[in-house]
Amino acid sequence: METISVRLKSFLRVLSNTTRKLKCIMFSIVITVTVLIWFYGSTTSEISLDHVRLHPSTGYVKYFSTSYSYRNNTPKILFWTPFFGSMVWYRESMDCIRLCPWKCELTDNKDEVATSDALLFHLTDITWVGFVNNPGQYLQFKFPGYRRPDQIWIAYNLEPLSMLWGNFHAFDGIFNWTWSYRHDADIYNPYGYFRSTTENEKQEMAKHLKSSNYFREKNKTGLIINSNCNDDARRYKLVHELSKYVDIDWYGGCGFKCPDDYRSCDVLNTKYKLYFAFENAHCRDYISEKFWRRHTYHQIPVVAWKIDYKGMVPPNSYINVFDFSDLNSAGKYIAHVANNETLFNSYFDWMKDYTADGGYCGMCRVCRALHTKNRSAQVYEDFNGWLTDDSCKPASITRFAQRSIDRLVFDGKTGIFNTKFLETS
Ligand SMILES: *[C@@H]1O[C@H](CO)[C@@H](O)[C@H](O)[C@H]1NC(C)=O
Ligand SMILES: *[C@@H]1O[C@H](CO)[C@@H](O)[C@H](O)[C@H]1NC(C)=O
Ligand SMILES: *[C@@H]1O[C@H](CO)[C@@H](O)[C@H](O)[C@H]1NC(C)=O
Ligand SMILES: *[C@@H]1O[C@H](CO)[C@@H](O)[C@H](O)[C@H]1NC(C)=O
Repeated sequence: METISVRLKSFLRVLSNTTRKLKCIMFSIVITVTVLIWFYGSTTSEISLDHVRLHPSTGYVKYFSTSYSYRNNTPKILFWTPFFGSMVWYRESMDCIRLCPWKCELTDNKDEVATSDALLFHLTDITWVGFVNNPGQYLQFKFPGYRRPDQIWIAYNLEPLSMLWGNFHAFDGIFNWTWSYRHDADIYNPYGYFRSTTENEKQEMAKHLKSSNYFREKNKTGLIINSNCNDDARRYKLVHELSKYVDIDWYGGCGFKCPDDYRSCDVLNTKYKLYFAFENAHCRDYISEKFWRRHTYHQIPVVAWKIDYKGMVPPNSYINVFDFSDLNSAGKYIAHVANNETLFNSYFDWMKDYTADGGYCGMCRVCRALHTKNRSAQVYEDFNGWLTDDSCKPASITRFAQRSIDRLVFDGKTGIFNTKFLETS
């Protein structure tokens, strides 16, 4: 009893002597946290150029013995959710469907659910991303109470898994089809698409390339524009390493400010030879418009593809950092291309053989699928399994924290934030 009171007294004395002690304690906490962060960062900071091999995603869909057959010659598609909170996608789809060789009727009137042949659900509007963006709308969401067995419920998603967040098991056994940039989706809708040129187009392009010199149009080297500073792929680490070999200017949210707004950064493209089209995560089949639009600016896209995308993109139209054995050889090669006129221009020869083609617009692809004659009825029994069968991971608070710490450690180590990227130009 006595000892306790003595200890208590001495403890109270210590407490009363706060200023020094408190400083001491605070200091130790700061040191410990810094050391932990440092240790954590140093274990995750290595850039590995290993590739990822994907297996076919099978076993998530249950097939029924009955077959899907549409009742109407003009299937009716009902937009059950908005797209990132907005119904603009409905109006845009109206324009798209007018040019489509297959005929479909579109509606956003939920009262027509009983007569609709397909229902569209945009995934981020019904997962927690939707809650963050627009809680009111998210909380109001309900699946229809009535479901015809021949009605197709379609999950629409163009976001990489790394941007999705939620309990995807909630959708097990609900959706019949998926509509996504993923190859294995029922309705395949990549961000970009190239088709082979016709003989005429080939000759025209050959003439055009002969009379142009894309290299001479530009007097700056490397450009990257994006807003996400602590992304899953840690592209800032790659950019930092590669800047030892080539000049790279970083614009957007965590780089130089764009002249006016984010869009005004677009004009920069005409000045830079190379565009670092690094995606924010290494997700299955995810090649965004960052890549697809480069040739219109006469830029070579430098990509960081861990996954083999050959066959999805024209050959010799890009430089993949992950095709090199190490960053040193990648950096040297990129610098070489940026300085060699012949070699640089040769990266556009593919335009003789391929041309960008939107294919059919998204809604037209849906419509075409709805006109299919004899496919069997099916449902994504394990929707979560299908969605997460990927080379990247879904978003989460832990991953966000890890990424933020990584970025902090990186900035601490390199001093990069202070010296270069926070200056405006
Ligand atoms: C680069 O080219 C632009 C016009 O295309 C010109 O305004 C600018 O002065 C040039 N800069 C250098 C460093 O040559
Ligand atoms: C530039 O690239 C071309 C084509 O690859 C090559 O033949 C030439 O030797 C290169 N020039 C220099 C100076 O490296
Ligand atoms: C579907 O129809 C096509 C052509 O009409 C036929 O070749 C194919 O075998 C059919 N498939 C099934 C599963 O019935
Ligand atoms: C769609 O999924 C539901 C729910 O499992 C199922 O009952 C229905 O047969 C499926 N319809 C088609 C046409 O695939």
